[in-house]
Amino acid sequence: MSNTIVVGAQWGDEGKGKIVDYLTEKTDVVVRAAGGNNAGHTVISGGQKYVLHLIPSGILWKDKMCVIGNGVVMDPLGLLEEIAKLRGQGVSITPENLLISETAHLVMPYHKGLDKAREAKRGDKKIGTTGRGIGPAYADKVERDGLRTILMTQPEVLEEELRDRLARHNATFAELGVDLVPVEETVKTVLEAAKALAPHITNTTVYLHEAIKAGKNLLFEGAQGTYLDIDHGTYPFVTSSNTTAGGACTGSGVPPRMIDKVVAVGKAYTTRVGSGPFVTENEEIGDMLHNMGREFGATTGRARRCGWLDAVLVRYAVMLNGADELAITNLDGLDGLETIQICTAYKLRGKTIHYPPSTAADLAACEPVYETHQGWKQDLSGITNFADLPDLAKAYLKRLEELVGAKVGLLGVGPAREQTLVA
Ligand code: GDP
Ligand code: IMO
Ligand code: MG
Repeated sequence: MSNTIVVGAQWGDEGKGKIVDYLTEKTDVVVRAAGGNNAGHTVISGGQKYVLHLIPSGILWKDKMCVIGNGVVMDPLGLLEEIAKLRGQGVSITPENLLISETAHLVMPYHKGLDKAREAKRGDKKIGTTGRGIGPAYADKVERDGLRTILMTQPEVLEEELRDRLARHNATFAELGVDLVPVEETVKTVLEAAKALAPHITNTTVYLHEAIKAGKNLLFEGAQGTYLDIDHGTYPFVTSSNTTAGGACTGSGVPPRMIDKVVAVGKAYTTRVGSGPFVTENEEIGDMLHNMGREFGATTGRARRCGWLDAVLVRYAVMLNGADELAITNLDGLDGLETIQICTAYKLRGKTIHYPPSTAADLAACEPVYETHQGWKQDLSGITNFADLPDLAKAYLKRLEELVGAKVGLLGVGPAREQTLVA
């Protein structure tokens, strides 16, 4: 038995989906424990591209159980769309391979409305959210005004609660001058969705503990990344959940002492979607990657901001998540470069620092301290053995390991499942 948490070490989109897909082969149960359909996890398997938002990437493997844990905020309409799309691609989804925690919270259409209205109000201080209603749904949960998925198995109670929320939220929308959420239509679609999803809803904490007792292996699929964590990220330019390793425990009911391993996934460079400080941001790298057709968001299609690898951030993420191992993806993105930079420290108001400061304003004021590496100038995408990597690529990874204090266990040289090398 071995239970592993996979977390993002940067600002999300590190390639967690691909790494989880790779690790699922030796896993029995794949669990999402935080976030919602703000996540977009791309997996390329058997030549087909799949994008997962709420459903754990393990669904692409036969005979694996997937669990949406209590820490997730679940948009039932979004989930049904995702299920329909995956079924259209030939993926089987039934209560035999997808369970939803009865204590996960629902994302309702009024949450999306609030998300958009709040962003519009923030003006040039906007967070750049995905518009999926994530922040308002978590706010209702913490305010103790949320609706939990168990209500989907109790249609009469759900209808009553939903009508109450719609009346209250529509009153707010009227004040804000925002379009109201149509009551009858929303009640109808949510009740229909409830009927369709009810067979998946159960006490997943009990399920997970029974699976552990039966000797099964669990894999926790992180969503977002360390620097989008509500506590540890670049607040307020973050998401509304705990995206770091601890969130896997609170978001599933599996206690910390049952976790055996933490894998931190990071790109060989850095990307970020949405607003907020980004010390190593570099337009030339962004142009290069976008011209290769890469680094467009899987959820919103937005072009991701790009920059050099920031070892200050990854080192802190390794510490914070207790990462035993790194999975470095997209090394092939650097193939064409003459020279490659790694940020090893920051300069803040004349002082050299080795950790990210705690305010977004201070992080924005940091200057990167770079060291320069010679590029390997070779296409890595066809390499199937770690030993066959060019020496310069190996040197880049070795230096990264030294700088961040964890070993590279897995390496990505392309988006497909087979383009994952074991170090
Ligand atoms: P996630 O949200 O962490 O699962 O990451 P995303 O799927 O949003 O973004 C990662 C992107 O990089 C996707 O388009 C993946 O297909 C792609 N990807 C992952 N690993 C590699 C890799 O090693 N090389 C290349 N070229 N693409 C990769
Ligand atoms: P995956 O799991 C990258 C970002 C948004 C925005 C901020 C808040 O694919 O790595 P939200 O809608 O959550 O309130 O937006 O967080 N964000 C992500 N960025 N990858 C993600 O997920 C993200 N989920 C949210 O762009 O900056
Ligand atoms: Mg993503």
